[in-house]
Amino acid sequence: MTEEATRILVVDDDEAGRYVKTRILKSKGYVVSETALGLVAIEQAEAAQPDLILLDVMLPDISGIEVCRRIKSEFPGVMVLQTSAAFTRPQDRTSALDGGADSFLVEPIDPDELLAAVNALLRVRRAERELRRLNETLEAQVAERTSELAEANAHLEQEVAERRKAEQALWHSQKLEAVGQLTGGVAHDFNNLLTVISGNLELVREALSGNRAPSTERLLRLIKSAQGAADRGALVTQQLLAFARRSMLRAESVDLSALIAAFAGFLQRALGEAIKLEMSFDPDLWRCGIDPIQFEAAILNLAVNARDAMGGSGHVTVEVVNMTVPADPPHTTRDLTEGSYVCVRVTDSGEGMTPEVAARAFEPFFTTKEIGKGSGLGLSQVYGFVKQSGGHVIIDSAPGAGTTVSLYLPRSELPPETLSKPA
Ligand SMILES: Nc1ncnc2c1ncn2[C@@H]1O[C@H](COP(=O)(O)OP(=O)(O)OP(=O)(O)O)[C@@H](O)[C@H]1O
Ligand SMILES: [Mg+2]
Repeated sequence: MTEEATRILVVDDDEAGRYVKTRILKSKGYVVSETALGLVAIEQAEAAQPDLILLDVMLPDISGIEVCRRIKSEFPGVMVLQTSAAFTRPQDRTSALDGGADSFLVEPIDPDELLAAVNALLRVRRAERELRRLNETLEAQVAERTSELAEANAHLEQEVAERRKAEQALWHSQKLEAVGQLTGGVAHDFNNLLTVISGNLELVREALSGNRAPSTERLLRLIKSAQGAADRGALVTQQLLAFARRSMLRAESVDLSALIAAFAGFLQRALGEAIKLEMSFDPDLWRCGIDPIQFEAAILNLAVNARDAMGGSGHVTVEVVNMTVPADPPHTTRDLTEGSYVCVRVTDSGEGMTPEVAARAFEPFFTTKEIGKGSGLGLSQVYGFVKQSGGHVIIDSAPGAGTTVSLYLPRSELPPETLSKPA
């Protein structure tokens, strides 16, 4: 920024004094103009406000104090250094300063003192100007900043809206994919079962319409085969109903330690001898309100999954603990809400799941197993049962790190065996 030259007006009717002051100031690079008259000084100040006026008190036309008052009332930013050889008493200083002068010096003035006083006043003037400039620009800055913020906010809102749209589209396509999978799964399973049933019925019809009467034994075998397929169909329907939370749950207030302990032998047989099964229970385990038969089916599904994930050997633990989930995050999540639960954790040392598999594991008919090995309905039964019971189920798994499935079953304070309404 290039600094404009500082302009000073020297007002003094004494020619010698005016000359000396002008010379001293010019020697320091100030642009100096001069006059002997007060009215001329006022005119000059009005035409081009100087930065500073060196103003003698006693002038031939009007009093220097009056000149100061008029200039200051119109241009308060112009610095006035009042000087006087005649009026040197304290009252004179006082009336000059009261008249608006910024400082007062008694003549004759020492050149260094004059320059120091001028410098000091100019510093004050620069500071005042800077302050005024800041004040003026402050409002503009605030306005500019406000509009920047509004713009950023609008941008953010637009991004949020776009993101929401994208999420909705993704959710919709995922939903369609799941529905497609479900429909395909149901159609495929029932098609297989119907083929078995109608194939066997066809054989029965052929046998009966032949020349030779078929053996009762053969007929019974065919019928049994058709019946078996129909039973499997009924099982699929049951699991689908469980997932849809439309099972007829017979909820009871159950002590899971007793229930699971009684079920342990069966579980161990399902797992096979090469898999070690360990169990632990909270010593003061609460009761929970669930349908015990659906619960056993769920645990069996989890055990079978664990067995399949471990390639025949490894270990499975079943831990049952009381758990109170406080009202606030991080305890509560999308999958877990506040409350008192009996938590059943089934952990295996198997191959684990990728995040993609874990995210879809509860979907009916989602399976990674080869055809004939898995129908993809096990975890959907678990999910449907737990949700219908008013609980939550969470999978913790990583490839190579095993899997833990935690069932959070709502605590029941009712006495044992009381039939409670399903949640
Ligand atoms: N303990 C586990 N370890 C590793 N992967 C698992 C485990 N449990 C489930 N999975 C994965 O989740 C998929 C779905 O499991 P789910 O029990 O629903 O079906 P499935 O076991 O494939 O078939 P089904 O249980 O109907 O016989 C499995 O195919 C497997 O990929
Ligand atoms: Mg399974």
